Parts: sequence; structure tokens; C-alpha cells
Amino acid sequence: MSAPLIDPFARPISYLRVSVTDRCDFRCVYCMAENMTFLPKKELLTLEELDRMCSTFIRLGVEKLRITGGEPLVRKGIMTFFQNMRRHLDTGALKELTLTTNGSQLRKFAGELAECGVRRINVSLDTLDDQKFADVTRWGKLAQVLDGIDAAQDAGMRVKLNAVALKGFNEEELFTLTEFCAARDMDLTWIEVMPMGDLGNEDRLDQYWPLSNLRERLAERYTLTDLTERSGGPARYVRLEETGQKIGFITPLTHNFCESCNRVRLTCTGELYMCLGQEDMADLRAPLRASESDAPLEDAIRAAIGRKPKGHDFDYSRQAVDGQMTRHMSHTGG
Ligand code: GTP
Ligand code: 5AD
Ligand code: SF4
Repeated sequence: MSAPLIDPFARPISYLRVSVTDRCDFRCVYCMAENMTFLPKKELLTLEELDRMCSTFIRLGVEKLRITGGEPLVRKGIMTFFQNMRRHLDTGALKELTLTTNGSQLRKFAGELAECGVRRINVSLDTLDDQKFADVTRWGKLAQVLDGIDAAQDAGMRVKLNAVALKGFNEEELFTLTEFCAARDMDLTWIEVMPMGDLGNEDRLDQYWPLSNLRERLAERYTLTDLTERSGGPARYVRLEETGQKIGFITPLTHNFCESCNRVRLTCTGELYMCLGQEDMADLRAPLRASESDAPLEDAIRAAIGRKPKGHDFDYSRQAVDGQMTRHMSHTGG
């Protein structure tokens, strides 16, 4: 095997997040504008190119692949890609193949995903109230997502829920969502809303609900034990002693986790972002298309990892919010 990928701050890069489409069947208010324009399909990496990209990263030591979007399950033919990635699980080079999804298409795809070796998935769900769900996604149907979660669990996959904490929106659902997950043996992670993408009228400061406050409220009803292991991800976890379940907090703004960052992100057009919160990226599509040999691509990947910054620039001071990043989360895949 080639030398592993190590960044300038001695962090081994073993985790690749891949956005396979910028499209989604929902338009969550913190993620997309209602009238989003999507990339022309010809801009996207083909499924064969995605396979070649991922396989090259795996050869360079990536052990965990998370497929994201947009909504990854709306990408046409995506099951073929999952089926092909299975070969890397079978050789042991890839330790985990997983995805983050809004759940809307899970009824259709859960069985096939499980057959491709997907063991755990993350489903984004911010509320259990029909009307609120329709509001936050702009038209989504809650029942369809709940049915998708059932399908995933029936297929034997573990499900973790991600809820974006939104002030004045799901504060009252802290306990409902916790109980819902406890009853179904699912972990739950709360995410601080991040200032990404130009969303028109939405004001991020109005949406921002700091997770320290959420934690205090949880502690009023449950006994919380801090868990020290970080599972290689950005979340910090507590255990609720009364239910035994794990609750995670992803707090890039109040408590960042950059020092242990192990990941980079590939967009659906083949740009590699070294950090979710920085604009610097490397075009990998050009070296991929320039040659049938993977050598130029490998060189471009190593050069990009050599530029990975120490940390992100997210900040909720008024100035930073005004100058917020215009790149959408759906472009880099969260
Ligand atoms: P793992 O892949 O197991 O680490 O799970 P995860 O919770 O990170 O994955 P998921 O796709 O569910 O990510 C949830 C959200 O966490 C993402 O959409 C981002 O909002 C946030 N997140 C993930 N990685 C990073 C990161 O490196 N930096 C920042 N600022 N946020 C991240
Ligand atoms: N801030 C925080 N989380 C976001 N997500 C999308 N946009 C944002 C944002 N601006 C989350 C989704 C999903 C994950 C992929 O990213 O809810 O859980
Ligand atoms: Fe779609 Fe996820 Fe963005 Fe919502 S957060 S619009 S479900 S990509």
C-alpha cells in the first residue's frame, strides 16, 4: 500500500465524506433556499468517476466512507455505486461504508443498502410534529421518513438521528425526540446550526440555539454521564443513565474538535474541501480526467492534504455572520 495520508498537523486522514449530488427532495430552511438552482447534471462526476475517486482514496488509506448530498438516495443509479463499493469492504481495505440521508427514500432502498454492507446510517430529523416537519423541510412528509426509519431498522441497520437545534422551533421537542429515540434504541445527535449558504431572508442569529443550553435542560430531567471516547467524529457524547442511550452534541461553534479532525470532503463535482469551514479546495476532477493512470490523481490528493488547515473559521460574531460562507452544505455534504 502507498504511504498513508497525513496532514501538516500530523493528523492521519482516514475518513472521506462524498457528496454524490447537490439535489434533494426537501429544502430544509437552514440548508437550502426555496428556489435553489442545482448544478447541470453534466457537471457531476459520473458513477464510474466516483468509484475511481473513492477507490484511489481507499488505496491511500481511507477506511471510512460516508456518502452524503444533498440527498444521496435521489442520485440516479446510486445503488450501483454502493454495490461496487462493497468490494472494498470484502477485501478489508474499507472498514465502514455508510450514508447520511433525510430518510425519504429509505423504504425503497434499505434492503439493498444492507446487502451492500451498510451497517449504520444517519437520518436527519429535526421534529416529530407533522406541520413543523413540513415547515422546516418546506414540503416533506414526516410519515414517509418515519416509515423509512422502520424499513432501515427492519433491514438490520443501526440508525442514528441528527437534529439541527433551532431556537424557537424544536426547543420544546428536546424530550419528545429523546424519548422517541430511546423507545427505538437509536442514538441522537444535536447539531448547532452552522452559517453556510446564502438562504435569502433567514437570519442565522435568530436560529441559533447553543447546545450548552440544551444540555442544561436535559440535565433537569436525566442524569448525564460524559463519555470520553469520541468515536472519531465531531460529536461529544453523554449517556442518559435512566434510558442508557447516547446523546451527541456537535458544537463546531462553541467547542470545536478540529484538533482530532480525520476527514476531508469530496463534492459531487470532484472538488476536495480540506475543511467544512474553509473555502480552500483542490480540483480533483481535472487530474482524474486527464489520465487513465491514477498517479496524477494520487499526487493531487497528497498535495491537497498537505494544505489542510488547522481549523475552521466559523464564528457567530455579527461580522462573521454578515460575511458568512456562501457555499451550501449540500455542496460539500455536511
Ligand atoms: P460520523 O461520520 O460518524 O462522524 O458522524 P457524523 O455525525 O459526523 O456524520 P453526519 O453526516 O451525520 O454529520 C452530521 C453533521 O455533523 C454534519 O452534517 C455537519 O453538520 C457536522 N459535521 C460533521 N463533520 C464535521 C466537521 O468536520 N466539521 C464541522 N464543523 N461539522 C461537522
Ligand atoms: N447547520 C447545521 N447542520 C446542517 N445540516 C444542513 N445544513 C446545516 C447547517 N447550516 C445538516 C443536516 C444533516 C446534515 C447532513 O447536515 O440536517 O443532518
Ligand atoms: Fe435536503 Fe438534508 Fe439539506 Fe434538508 S438538510 S434540504 S434533507 S440536504
